[in-house]
Amino acid sequence: MSQHHDKILIVDFGSQLTKLIARRVRENGVYSEIHPYNKVGRAFLEGFDPKAVILSGGPNSVTGMGSPRADTFIFGMGIPVLGICYGQQVMCAQLGGSVEQAREREFGRAHINIVRENELFAGLSTRERVWMSHGDRVSNIPDGFEIIAQSANAPFAAIADESRKFYGVQFHPEVAHTEHGAVMLRNFTHKIAGFSGDWTMAAFKDEAITAIREKVGDAKVICGLSGGVDSSVTAILIYEAVREQLTCVYVDTGMMRKGESEQVVSLFRQHYNINLIFVDASTRFMEALEGVTDPEAKRGVIGKTFVDIFDKQSSRVEGAKFLAQGTLYPDVIESVSFDGGPSVTIKSHHNVGGLPERMKLELIEPLRELFKDEVRDLGRQLGLHDDFVRRHPFPGPGLAIRCPGAVTKQRLDMLREADAIYMDQIRKYDLYDEIWQAFTVILPVQSVGVMGDERTYENVLALRAVTSTDGMTADYYPYSHGFLSETATRIINEVRGVNRVVYDITSKPPGTIEWE
Ligand code: XMP
Repeated sequence: MSQHHDKILIVDFGSQLTKLIARRVRENGVYSEIHPYNKVGRAFLEGFDPKAVILSGGPNSVTGMGSPRADTFIFGMGIPVLGICYGQQVMCAQLGGSVEQAREREFGRAHINIVRENELFAGLSTRERVWMSHGDRVSNIPDGFEIIAQSANAPFAAIADESRKFYGVQFHPEVAHTEHGAVMLRNFTHKIAGFSGDWTMAAFKDEAITAIREKVGDAKVICGLSGGVDSSVTAILIYEAVREQLTCVYVDTGMMRKGESEQVVSLFRQHYNINLIFVDASTRFMEALEGVTDPEAKRGVIGKTFVDIFDKQSSRVEGAKFLAQGTLYPDVIESVSFDGGPSVTIKSHHNVGGLPERMKLELIEPLRELFKDEVRDLGRQLGLHDDFVRRHPFPGPGLAIRCPGAVTKQRLDMLREADAIYMDQIRKYDLYDEIWQAFTVILPVQSVGVMGDERTYENVLALRAVTSTDGMTADYYPYSHGFLSETATRIINEVRGVNRVVYDITSKPPGTIEWE
């Protein structure tokens, strides 16, 4: 799909901020992709055909032995190049300048003085607030370059060879602390590289549909639905492309929230009229989970049971050649580290991993170039209701990981009831969109209480709510006391078997969002 569009290549040298560069560029309507520096060689560049290149920051020192370099072919393509931090240093070192360790390291806020009029800083004032993070600095610029900005500790804070359209900045324009960083990146893409900024979700949708049609031909596609936004958007996009060649499979694990399975059936079967195999496997999952209390063991059992059922049901679709999955761009980036090394797993996520090989199906992942909020946009473009696309994330193993200890039908039912009341309260107080994720957890302890004149000895329920931008770090949500006490009272009065409610005020790290 992206091959039909003008695009910018971001060469990754391993900075934590590289993803942000892609975000900022896309926000300006320019399609971008990140690729690790050691995968970007001449053949790749000729195939990718970028209209401009950004070299990212990175943790290495250009002066270090064997430190990463950009493929020199980049500098001979006649296209604009912007080097950021390490990217600036590498460009200088490779084009004949030099880099040294700075006497004073610069971290955090700094000011630059713009000393020469230039396209990168067009429309800005002569003094700008920027965000620096570097130990090395350029000490000698290559022929053809000029200094365009300086800071107290970086005499070469920004440099340019305007005839070749090569720019280098020592600071990070992609972070919000660089006050006009977005303008600088927009100047690079629009004024310097000549992008028109016409990359929109509507354009993406049309290109994706054409690409899916070309790939699938007249073969059949299977798509696993989870009820979440990503798999739903994947399914509807594929349906738009190949209509009844698509069959969706929804496995009700018995660990869904109240009314969730019914909603999936009504949305896909009634509203979209998509072929849907609905499997009620709740009994099978409950049997498989009997006596299993360890979190990773639970995930293992659920994953395996799911794959077994999905495999069997999908084999009912004769002639299926493709398996569609809602993999997102952050998953793609996180699974490929910048130098090809492995990434770390804290929790084994449950998905359809292993299925394509086992079923001998080819994968289609139409969202693998998109960020979560872009998927939400695409969902809206495809006509999904706003309430649906704004839904909080829900984990693959479902309520099982919100039930520390033994998973029983009775405990799941209590959780479902409590969760529905909690959501109702959050909506009533109009807090849903402020919160990244909110849910209840039923604890494996009982506590003594008094209701009326009676002694009770019943379950304890924890409320969880966090704010986050990507689920990687999170803060607990600061509810008002009024909200908390009203919600606790409602849950204790309305859910049989719960006599105590607590609020979890742990952030991530050190906690994780889910309890298991
Ligand atoms: P944690 O608990 O690791 O969660 O802080 C981060 C985000 O991931 C979700 N999560 C999962 N999603 N399968 C999923 O699809 C899983 O096994 C899984 N475990 C956690 C969690 O709900 C949060 O949004």
